[in-house]
Amino acid sequence: MRVASSADKTFSYIPDCSDLDIPEDADYVYICENNTIYGTKFHTLPNTKGHDLVADVSSCFLSEPVDVSKYGIIYGGVQKNVGPAGMVISIIREDLIRDDVMPFCPTMLKFKTQADNGSLYNTPNCWSIYMCGLVFKWLKAQGGLTEMKKRNEEKAAILYDYLDQSAMFHGTVRKEDRSLMNVPFITDSEELNARFIAEATKAGFVSLKGHRTVGGMRASIYNAMPKEGIQKLVDFMADFEKNNR
Ligand SMILES: Cc1ncc(COP(=O)(O)O)c(C=O)c1O
Repeated sequence: MRVASSADKTFSYIPDCSDLDIPEDADYVYICENNTIYGTKFHTLPNTKGHDLVADVSSCFLSEPVDVSKYGIIYGGVQKNVGPAGMVISIIREDLIRDDVMPFCPTMLKFKTQADNGSLYNTPNCWSIYMCGLVFKWLKAQGGLTEMKKRNEEKAAILYDYLDQSAMFHGTVRKEDRSLMNVPFITDSEELNARFIAEATKAGFVSLKGHRTVGGMRASIYNAMPKEGIQKLVDFMADFEKNNR
C-alpha cells in the first residue's frame, strides 16, 4: 500500500513523511532513499510510527555516514559507489533474520539462509567481493564516510550552483530534496536537450542522457567522480549556454 507519493509533480520532491497514515498492521515501511532516476533523496527519514524501515540505498550507499540503527533492513546493489555490478549488500537487524518468511520465498533468497551460511550458501561473486574490499580500504584511507559526504556536498554544489544561476539549464528537483549523487536537469526545449547531449558526447561527457522514462539530462556524480570532472562539465555547459543564446 502506498502511503505517500509525489506523482502529482513527476516525483520531483519528497513528500512530507512526518505524519503518514500507516496501517497498524503494516509489516514495514519501505523507501527508496535516493531515487536514481528522479534525483531525489530522503534527507530526513520517514516517521514510521514504530514500524521497521526498509530502504533501498543502491544509489547513495557509502556516500555519507548512516545511522544503521534507524533501519530494519538496508540493502543496495553495489554497482554505484561500491564495486562492479552483480552483488547486493544487505544490513539487517538480527531479529529480522527469521524462518517465518512467505512460503514461496526461494531458499537462497532468505536472509536466514545467507546468514546461517556466512553468505556462502552458493558460490559468491568473488571478484566483486574482492573489488568491494579494495574500495572499502580506499574509503578508509580517504577519511571514511565523513570525508565522502564533505566531498560529495562540495561536488554537487558546483553543479547545483551553476544550474541555479543558469538561464538555459534548470534542475528538476525541489531544492531541499536534491540528491548528492544524481542531478537531473533540462532546458526549455527538447531540441536543445538533444543538441546538448550530442555535443557533450562528442566532447567526451558520456551518459548524460536522462533515464528513458523521463528524458532531459542527468549527471550521476558518484564517489568515483572527481571534483575536476564536475567542474569540466559545468565549464562545458556554460560554453554551450553562451554559444546557443
Ligand atoms: C535505487 C536503485 N534500486 C535498484 C536498482 C536496480 O538494481 P539492479 O539492476 O541491480 O536490480 C537501481 C539501479 O541500478 C537503483 O538505482
